[in-house]
Amino acid sequence: MDIGIDKIGFYTPNVYVDMEKLAEVRGVDPAKYTIGIGQEKMSIAPLHHDSVSLAANAALSILDDEDREKIDFVLFGSESGVDHSKSGAVWVHNLAGIQQNARCVELKQACYGATAGIKMAMGHIALNPDSKVLVLGADIAKYGLNTGGEPTQGAGAVAMVLSQNPRILSLDNDSASMTKDISDFWRPLYSDYAFVDGKFSNEAYLGFLKEVFDNYKEKTGRNLSDFEAMCFHLPYTKMGKKAILALTEDLDESETKRLMDSYHDSIYYNKQVGNVYTGSLYLSLLSLLEQAPEFKAGSRIGLFSYGSGAVGEFFSGIVKPDYKKYLNKDAHESVLDDRRELSIEEYEATLEKALPKDGSDIAIDDEQVNLGKAYLSGIKENVRLYSVK
Ligand code: COA
Repeated sequence: MDIGIDKIGFYTPNVYVDMEKLAEVRGVDPAKYTIGIGQEKMSIAPLHHDSVSLAANAALSILDDEDREKIDFVLFGSESGVDHSKSGAVWVHNLAGIQQNARCVELKQACYGATAGIKMAMGHIALNPDSKVLVLGADIAKYGLNTGGEPTQGAGAVAMVLSQNPRILSLDNDSASMTKDISDFWRPLYSDYAFVDGKFSNEAYLGFLKEVFDNYKEKTGRNLSDFEAMCFHLPYTKMGKKAILALTEDLDESETKRLMDSYHDSIYYNKQVGNVYTGSLYLSLLSLLEQAPEFKAGSRIGLFSYGSGAVGEFFSGIVKPDYKKYLNKDAHESVLDDRRELSIEEYEATLEKALPKDGSDIAIDDEQVNLGKAYLSGIKENVRLYSVK
């Protein structure tokens, strides 16, 4: 059965920091952030946005009434969950107006959560061919002010509808995955900020990539020349360049150049948003599909998902005829272009603002001009209150 991505959209908060200005204030050469790390802008989540509202906005941007009727499974990948018990999927199910006879769960494995959702969705559709599944990847990446990870923060969500006979990307039913218990990046329950061993996480990422890609080649008989382009999990966009160099180190230079051509299209959105953890790979895929010249139908795209801790998977998809018709390039460019720049003082205050942790109520002021359709309006008696405009 032909199963894959039928619709894909994203949302990011409407405020950002300019990386060159952040570098100046931190006493760092701006080229380190823009070239060395590869980030131009970084979206910041005001209090109105958490992983649920970000995911709801991404979902609302793609769903129509037929989807709302046919979706019977909502899978919410996140490492920024807002409740230890209730899944973010249940809130999004309500905010997006999806029919009641559906299953909703949240999936956690660092930046791998949305990929787990995709794999589960494929199994579900294989057994229930008329179903549609909503897969979400939504996160707020926070390392804290003046930390090594500070320039690699971000916030946003990707939403995808998976179905049979998809219009954008068919997913191959062969992939290679790997798990190893390591401590490269984690976030203890008490902490709003992630802990990371930055250099080790880079090494672990590249080690996983090489091992799962070798395994994928062995399983499928395919090799690098079978791919028109590659998309990678992008904690920062330079990581994608490191990934291409790692995969092509023993190959002819022309192979590196071929993949580097599409790399620039695949990072266009990510370099303006920053890290969105579990949505990052799919934001890169969206960027590639919308920004690159149209691929011939049948072109194969490689996808590498990595979630610290760690789980990695290499899988692939095939672009469908006329897939560009089903994308929303103009709308996505507007989401990025319509954001307001924060001064560094505003950024610092926004990043450090937190919801009460002692159970007290809060009503969140409408201080931002454009909050998206869905947003967190407050907490009352420990219940989070969301609004949809
Ligand atoms: N001009 C251009 N490039 C410059 C530069 C300048 N003036 N100054 C430094 N650079 C380059 C460095 O050469 C380096 O490139 P390389 O990675 O290709 O070697 C890059 O910028 C980063 O410099 P580095 O000194 O390694 O930065 P850092 O110690 O501040 O750490 C991270 C960078 C990404 C490791 C850190 O931000 C981090 O821990 N981020 C979160 C973890 C993460 O995202 N992990 C990924 C796996 S999921």
